Order: sequence, then structure tokens, then C-alpha cells
Amino acid sequence: MSVTIKSGREIELMKEAGRILAIVHEELGKIIKPGITTLDIDRKGEEIIRSYGCIPSFLNYSGYPASICVSVNDGVVHGIPRDDYYIEEGDIVSLDAGVLYKGYHSDAARTWAVGEISDNAKRLIEVTKQSFFEGIKYAKPGYHINDIGSAIQKFVEDHGYSVVRQLTGHGIGSALHEDPQIPNFHQRRRGKKLEPGMTLAIEPMVNEGHYDVCWLDDDWTVVTADGSLSAHYENTILITEDEPIILSI
Ligand code: MF3
Ligand code: CO
Repeated sequence: MSVTIKSGREIELMKEAGRILAIVHEELGKIIKPGITTLDIDRKGEEIIRSYGCIPSFLNYSGYPASICVSVNDGVVHGIPRDDYYIEEGDIVSLDAGVLYKGYHSDAARTWAVGEISDNAKRLIEVTKQSFFEGIKYAKPGYHINDIGSAIQKFVEDHGYSVVRQLTGHGIGSALHEDPQIPNFHQRRRGKKLEPGMTLAIEPMVNEGHYDVCWLDDDWTVVTADGSLSAHYENTILITEDEPIILSI
């Protein structure tokens, strides 16, 4: 599949999908407390998404069984919500959500602190978020896909952390995953030229320790191989003639 350039109408729908997704994250951030289960988060997330007339993008995607991915501590992404997994004080909780609005998707992730967390965990969450903003400095015409990942990797490694290599960001639109793939690390190829009308999900996944990850037996949950903490920050953005527009914030 080639990279799609969105029309004015498509961009309007993606803006609305992004606006709703930003609300979903804001609301979910408020309910994360010690004692709730990861399934409680999923239920609430699905309820909010449907209350806006949207469909959860992840539900049944390639067989994924929930609406929100909930990945705790050494969980990197794609954690499956459970009714017997309780959130505890000191945890860091990554939530990844997608909404489908009138045929168009938006995809975004945030990592939340539960109560008091370690200084290192705080710094990991901040560096991960900031690496997204470093990356999108290059999300405009005149640059290539690789410029985004190179900037993310440099910022993350300058702060002593590592970027996950086995998962990437992606184009997004009427499909949740469209071309191109957007690695969060430097590659030899420059990759596609960035052009106005492209919509992209940029999603740095940052590990405290080594970048290597592994999959649990549920075939979804991705965790750090060395057991170190991991954080995730993602938004859907629109490439314009000038600065990108962050749709899901
Ligand atoms: N942001 C994640 C991704 O782009 C969400 C996908 S979860 C899935 O891979 F369940 F939909 F696969
Ligand atoms: Co994504």
C-alpha cells in the first residue's frame, strides 16, 4: 500500500477523531488510582469512546480482545486488560487508545504515574514525551521519515535511555495502520519525503534499560527483556506546508 494524502474532508474527520481521543485520555488519566483493575480502565475507555459515537479502533483488531491497551511498569505496549490485575501506588501505566470516527482513525498513547513514583520513573515519562516533540520538529516538508526517528533516538539516548526497535509508528487514516512505517530510531534509508496531507502516528516507546523486548504467551503483551521500566507517548499528527498539527492533543 502506498502513503495516502488526505483531502480536506478527510482531514476534518481526522481532526474530530483526534479531538475525541484527547478527551478519552484526559478522562482515563483521572481514574487511574491504586486498587482499580486494568479491565476497569478498558471498560471506562470503551464507554467514553462509544459515548461520542465512535468505535474503539483496537477492539478485535487482528484479534486484540479489548479497546484500550494497558501496559504497566515493564509493559511496553499492547498489554491486555484483566479483571485480576490491580494497579498499585508507584506504578507507571501506559494507555494506548484508538477511535474510529466516521471511517477515520486516531491513535494516541500516554504514560501515567500512580501516586508517588520514583524520580527515575518520572524522568523516563518526561523524556519519552519530550522525544515525541523532538521528533516532530522534522515532521514537515523538506524532511524525510528517517529524520523523525533519528531525532527521537538521539534525544532518548542522550538521556541514558533506549528506544524500542521491534515496533514502530505508522501512517493512519481510514486504516489504523497505513504506510509508511515510522521507526523511532536511525536507519540508513532516508525513507519517504514528508508531504502535506499525510497523517502519521508517531509513537516513541522508551526503555529505562536495554531496548530489547519480548512477547508474553498471550501473544500480545510486549515487555522489556531486562525487566526495566518502559514508557510510551503517541499522537496522530497532520503534515502541513508548515508546522505539523497534533490532532490528538
Ligand atoms: N498504537 C498501537 C499500534 O499502533 C495500537 C495497536 S493495538 C492493537 O500498534 F490492538 F490494535 F493492535
Ligand atoms: Co499506533
